[in-house]
Amino acid sequence: MQARKPLIAGNWKMFKTQQEAVETAKRLVALAGKVTECDIMIAPPFTALSRVHEIIGPSAIGLGAQNFFWEPEGPFTGEISAAMLVSTGCRYVIIGHSERRQLFGETDQTVNQKLAAAFKNGLIPVFCIGESETERDAGNTFSVLDKQLKMGLKKLPLKTYSSLVIAYEPIWAIGTGKTATTDQAQQVHHFLRSLLADNWGNSLANSTRILYGGSVKSTNIKELMGMPDIDGALVGGASLDADDFNAIIHFFK
Ligand code: PGA
Repeated sequence: MQARKPLIAGNWKMFKTQQEAVETAKRLVALAGKVTECDIMIAPPFTALSRVHEIIGPSAIGLGAQNFFWEPEGPFTGEISAAMLVSTGCRYVIIGHSERRQLFGETDQTVNQKLAAAFKNGLIPVFCIGESETERDAGNTFSVLDKQLKMGLKKLPLKTYSSLVIAYEPIWAIGTGKTATTDQAQQVHHFLRSLLADNWGNSLANSTRILYGGSVKSTNIKELMGMPDIDGALVGGASLDADDFNAIIHFFK
């Protein structure tokens, strides 16, 4: 059933100067640059994208960005466009991470505009959704995710799209050391895949990779990957050190 190639994605967040990013990328290429069993993506900060691309260029590691603005160009001081990301060598972009939603005012509408712009520019979006602890405790996990998914993907030309990546990241599990149990994660992933099938058809549901994110490490990757609807991981803290990140990738080798 799992014909989807797993993706292990590293989100470096606001860590690493250019030099530090280069060092980590070099080490990662040495450790995992030839892996074919899973796709690998790293998302350094904007300032390191070009340098990291020079290093990972021909290897198995793909470059991603952590954010961008949906307009093609214009007077938007401090913003970066999709075409600018593509020009640095990016193939992926993380969209709607909970830190952006919580700290920088991103909404389902802005996430939808970013997804549309990513599609238009040929970037593979890693579209993040997830419930807070309060929402889970109130029994609203599924309604929250239903809304985030449907509003995020609203009016997008998805029928024949095969490169969508969704990352389910329960907010209470990010950077906290708490992980959802594998059963909790599988239940949500299955729910999301059913939503995709019901709204956009089986082809999209079967080709979309749904990653789990939130305190993923080498010690829990095996259990997570044992679940039929978990297609990889979006890794924060454990992606900052090349050896730690490679230990997660190692599960697939
Ligand atoms: P974490 O972060 O692995 O440090 O929990 C995950 C994320 O925010 O994508």
